[in-house]
Amino acid sequence: MSNVLIALPLYQISSLLTYFSKDRLILAIESSCDDTSAAVLQGNRVLSNVVSSQEIHSAYGGVVPELASREHQKSIVPVVEMALRQAGIDKRDLEAVAYTRGPGLLGSLLVANSFAKSLSVALGVPLLEVHHMQAHILAHCIALDGHSNPAFPFLCMTVSGGHTQLVLVESANSMQILGQTLDDAAGEAFDKTAKLLGLPYPGGPLIDRYAKDGDPHRFHFSKPKVEGLDFSFSGLKTGVLYFLQKMMQENPRFVEENLNDICASVQSTIVEILIDRMREAMVLTKVRQIALAGGVSANSALRKAFHELGEEMNVQVFIPPFSYCTDNAAMIGIAGQFLFEDQQFGELSSAPLARWEFGNRL
Ligand code: KG4
Ligand code: ZN
Repeated sequence: MSNVLIALPLYQISSLLTYFSKDRLILAIESSCDDTSAAVLQGNRVLSNVVSSQEIHSAYGGVVPELASREHQKSIVPVVEMALRQAGIDKRDLEAVAYTRGPGLLGSLLVANSFAKSLSVALGVPLLEVHHMQAHILAHCIALDGHSNPAFPFLCMTVSGGHTQLVLVESANSMQILGQTLDDAAGEAFDKTAKLLGLPYPGGPLIDRYAKDGDPHRFHFSKPKVEGLDFSFSGLKTGVLYFLQKMMQENPRFVEENLNDICASVQSTIVEILIDRMREAMVLTKVRQIALAGGVSANSALRKAFHELGEEMNVQVFIPPFSYCTDNAAMIGIAGQFLFEDQQFGELSSAPLARWEFGNRL
C-alpha cells in the first residue's frame, strides 16, 4: 500500500475559496438515521442548520427503523420551513436542493429523497445526491468565522455510529479509503458498551460524560491486532461483556459503584485504537493536515488526544464544532455545493441506497 500512496500528488494544495466564487443558495436535507435536518447554504456559508433529534428510540436501546421513518415524515415539513425562515430566504430563491441519498436506513432515506425530488421539480432547480460519509468529511470545508479550513489533501478519520474510516481526501470529489472497520463502528463500540452498562441509547455521549470523573487506567481492555490501517471493535465489545459478567458475579453492584472508571477505561481504549491508526496513516502518507469527522468526534477524550497527536507530530489539526460533528444538513449542503461545482446533478429516478461505497480502496 505504501508504494501506491507515495505515488500520490501529496502537496497539490488547492484553496477552498476557489470552489465558491458564486454565492449559490442551496437547501440541504438529511434523514439517513434518526435526525431530521435541513440547512440553507450560501456558497460555503451556513445561513441556517436546523436539527430535530428523535427521542423515541432511547426506550428501545437503538434506532428502530420503522419508527425513525415515521418520525422523519412528521418532522420534515416543519424542519425545512424553519431552516428557510431562519435563513431569511424564500424557497423561490433556492438554486438547488441537496439530499442524502445514502448510506443509511432505507425507510428514513426515502423521506428526504422524495421530499427533495418533489421540491426540485416544483421549483425547477437541480437535485444534488449526496453521500452521507463524504458529507461528514466535507463539513470541514464550511466557512467558520475565526477558523481556517484544511486545504487538500488532508487525512480524515470519520467515526460515526455506522462507520469508521480513514480517508485520504485528495479533493472534494476524490477520496481514497486507507482503512475501515472490519466489524463494529467506533460509535457502536460506545453505544454497545453503554447498553451493557444499562445506559439509554445513544450511549456515546453518556460514556463521555461519566468518563470525565473516572480513572482511564483503572481497568485494562486489550486492543485488537488488525493488519494495515483497518479497525476492529467487536473484540472490545466482547471483552467488556465478559469482564462485566465476571465482576458482577463477585459484586452485583459493580457497575453502579464503578461506572465512571469503567466508562473512562473503555473510552480510553477506543481512543487509543483510533489515535494509533491515525499516527500510522500520517507516517505512511506524510500528509501534514489531519481531521476528525462524524458523531464520535464530539467525544471530548478523542478531541483532546487528537490535538495532542497534532502537537506530537507537528501537524495541523482540524476538528469541527459539535454541531457539525453529529448528523446535520449543513454538511449535506457543502457536499452539494461541490457536486454542483462539478456539474454532477441527480436524477428523479435515483432510489435511496442503504449501502453505498465511495472513493477508492487502497
Ligand atoms: O455521525 P452520527 O451522528 O450518526 C451516524 O451517521 O452514525 O454518529 C452517531 C454516533 C453514535 O454512536 C453516538 O453514540 C456517537 O456518535 N457519539 C459519541 C459522542 N457523541 C455522539 N460517542 C462518544 N462520545 C460522544 N461525546
Ligand atoms: Zn453520520
